[in-house]
Amino acid sequence: MTNIPRPDTTRLQNMARAYTQTAVLWAAIDLGLFTAVSQGATDEDAVAEACGVSRLDAERLVVCCLTLDLLRVENGKLVNPPDVERFMVKGQRGYAGPWMTFTRRDVPKWFEISELMTNGPEPGLLGMYEDLTVDRARKYHEATYSIGMGAGRRFVRTVDLSGRKRMLDLGGGSGAYSINVVQAHEDMTAVVFDLPPVVEVTREFLEENGVGDRVDTVGGDFTSDPLPEDCDVVVMASNLPIYDADVIAGVVARAHDALRPGGEMHLVGEMLADDRTAPADAAMWGMNELLYAGMGRAHTIAECIGYFEGAGFTDVGVTEFVPGTLERVHGVKAV
Ligand SMILES: C[S@@+](CC[C@H](N)C(=O)[O-])C[C@H]1O[C@@H](n2cnc3c(N)ncnc32)[C@H](O)[C@@H]1O
Repeated sequence: MTNIPRPDTTRLQNMARAYTQTAVLWAAIDLGLFTAVSQGATDEDAVAEACGVSRLDAERLVVCCLTLDLLRVENGKLVNPPDVERFMVKGQRGYAGPWMTFTRRDVPKWFEISELMTNGPEPGLLGMYEDLTVDRARKYHEATYSIGMGAGRRFVRTVDLSGRKRMLDLGGGSGAYSINVVQAHEDMTAVVFDLPPVVEVTREFLEENGVGDRVDTVGGDFTSDPLPEDCDVVVMASNLPIYDADVIAGVVARAHDALRPGGEMHLVGEMLADDRTAPADAAMWGMNELLYAGMGRAHTIAECIGYFEGAGFTDVGVTEFVPGTLERVHGVKAV
């Protein structure tokens, strides 16, 4: 007799229907379920009324959410778990609905990836950014802003920028990191470098946050255009899997050369553990590039450290940025 458990199909069946979880989360966001519960719709009749659905559909939705720990029952009343209450209730500072539904247009393509692999278009360097318009950039960065401001606040809390003067925010998008940095450090200014259609939108976010006079924007392609040379900090956040190893190594090297001596660089992104067994999200962002014929892939932490060392950075290290999700590789340019 052996004690090795006999495999069953449970894990595989759950994975085969994992898309149902996405669908339920998005339906709950679309219908304003979590906002309604937060505002006092604490039973299924009230949910039906607040969300404009039948009593039967309210029950279906609530039951799905209870099993996914998207809702709980406390003292006989429906409540939101803490993360749902903080990030899924409209009107809260942390509301991240646009980010959580940001990938909706990708769904059909995800279910065609075998076809794209065997019969898809030739990949190009810029992938989904190839024909970006200002309108599309605005929609895209409404979503990144709703999650990026939290990341920017975390950056400011966890990275000591005392004595620093000016930050280059490479692929800065909404400018979320720059906004937080200049708000937290009154002596600092910043420059967001992003594609030309994006920086038009960046300016709107900067004005909205009252930092338009302290954060500049430069439109360009960071893989080939000259980078500003007056900065002592570079941050490059959440654009790692968009490119392959050669391109990222090249951008890190060009950022190193553009930095002032003694300056520092931070690469924040989804990175694989060196044995490539986790986290799945980093792998999936690499796969996402297939959908838009990009050349990007998931990078390991060791690879990212290698890009920094290859560029000439010293004191290279890695720090967990958001546990299980984002790493921060950092280094210093020699004086
Ligand atoms: C997922 S967003 C991240 C935005 C921001 N760093 C944040 O964390 O909120 C990726 C950004 O990288 C920019 N980007 C991608 N490729 C670029 C390139 N070749 N040159 C300049 N910007 C680029 C995109 O336009 C987009 O704004």
